[in-house]
Amino acid sequence: MEFTVDTRPLPVIETEALVTYVFEQSDPIEGPIAELDQATGGAIRKLVQSAELAGKALEMTLLHSPQGLKAQRLLLVGAGKRDAFTGAHLRKLAGAALRYLKARSVKRFVFAPRETDLNSVGAQTIVEGLIVANFESDKYKTENKNDKFIEAVALAGWSDSARAEAEKGIARGGIIGESQNFVRDLVNEPANRLTPRMLADRAQAMAREAGLPCEVFDENRIAELKMGALLSVAQGSVEPPRLIVLTYTPSSAAPNSPALGLIGKAITFDTGGISIKPALDMEKMKYDMAGGATMLGVMRALAALKPKIKVIAIIPSSENMPGGGAQKPGDVQISMAGKSIEVINTDAEGRLVLADGIAYAKQLGCTHLLDAATLTGAIVVALSNVNVGVFGSDQAFTDKFLASAKTQGEKMWQMPLDEEYREMIKSTIADIQNVGTGKGGGAITAAMFLKEFAGDTPWIHLDIAGTAWLDDQRPWICKGGSGIAVRTLVDLIMSY
Ligand code: BES
Ligand code: ZN
Ligand code: ZN
Repeated sequence: MEFTVDTRPLPVIETEALVTYVFEQSDPIEGPIAELDQATGGAIRKLVQSAELAGKALEMTLLHSPQGLKAQRLLLVGAGKRDAFTGAHLRKLAGAALRYLKARSVKRFVFAPRETDLNSVGAQTIVEGLIVANFESDKYKTENKNDKFIEAVALAGWSDSARAEAEKGIARGGIIGESQNFVRDLVNEPANRLTPRMLADRAQAMAREAGLPCEVFDENRIAELKMGALLSVAQGSVEPPRLIVLTYTPSSAAPNSPALGLIGKAITFDTGGISIKPALDMEKMKYDMAGGATMLGVMRALAALKPKIKVIAIIPSSENMPGGGAQKPGDVQISMAGKSIEVINTDAEGRLVLADGIAYAKQLGCTHLLDAATLTGAIVVALSNVNVGVFGSDQAFTDKFLASAKTQGEKMWQMPLDEEYREMIKSTIADIQNVGTGKGGGAITAAMFLKEFAGDTPWIHLDIAGTAWLDDQRPWICKGGSGIAVRTLVDLIMSY
């Protein structure tokens, strides 16, 4: 999709569709709305007065051949209450408008933001929403494929002197939106088309294009590193594991600036292993690599945005299969950190591969750790598909992260990590066990397990099991991989 800035007055712009938005309840006729109302001889005022245009969130009002405008259509999108309107609303609204128009075979349109959004952050937000909305999840369809895409959007309403601001926002929004879609594409891939080796190939191809060094460790190198926990998960599969490491180094890092380790769970398929999962919904376990994909998408964006701090992505990848060599419940594994783990349930494999990923991040000298993983069904019970579960060992770091989540409109909710939960993962015969005893708290005991490996290094864990996959489409996004957390992570890293 191509983006441009059009600084001409709205009524003279020739386009398939001109889009703007209207707030709920006595939205003053001002800015672009006033300009359009005047040109159309009061058409907008009449719609508002007749209550046909109420401005309710994402309500669409489409006028064909609007009198007084060069545009073929005028699309007025409801924006909800003005006081509650945020960037998150703007992003969704832009996306919903795009999906509405592309369903009607429009190929090119003009988007005119309201006065308060005529800045670089506004342009960035709109472009993110548009790029995410233009993505479809049906890449393997040969029939009834959605092959309608928007080809070009012009952002209008900016003055000539503000053009550079708009262009800056468009460039950033483009990088972030495309990186989010990069993640979604990987998450959607079926497991036969994305094994750990194939994920590593995709990571290397992306890194080559982005200009980032990328190292892939095969099963022998993984064994040399003594990553017994990662290897134990892989041993039930004929597909070998991979450890993917991407590094971003700033051109000049300030002394004592942090080095952030991003660890992403990339189980390309989770059958549960010998503690096998039920058949219902098991096909969805292809998305158990979403944490790893998220980190790849973040690195892709960072390569272009060039933050000031060092960032290393560490992605342990494996299948979790019940083959003849599979680990058995009760087996004891020695992790890279030297800690012994009793594997009570082979389906709690994510924390095993992450334990070694975290240990490796520490060995590489990371001062801060952040992992993302589709880790537990329990987080879905606690927070459904609405919020990401956030766990943190350092409140200042966690607060900084949550502040980024807020500005990016990605819903995240902090969960507790009291010492009492540590008791629940004590093993009789090893240092720790991979499943909690006692009632409930499955997402927390999983996080507590990871915390043991993070140790004193400030660490955040994101459980994205409920939010990495959309079972239903929304007006602004199709079904499938969501690309959750990419924007928040990029914002956090750029804020240093
Ligand atoms: N990959 C799953 C978690 C999951 C569940 C992701 C639903 C996405 C949607 C994870 O490996 C798992 O199986 N966890 C178990 C842990 C249990 C055995 C302690 C779970 O949550 O049931
Ligand atoms: Zn599992
Ligand atoms: Zn899993």
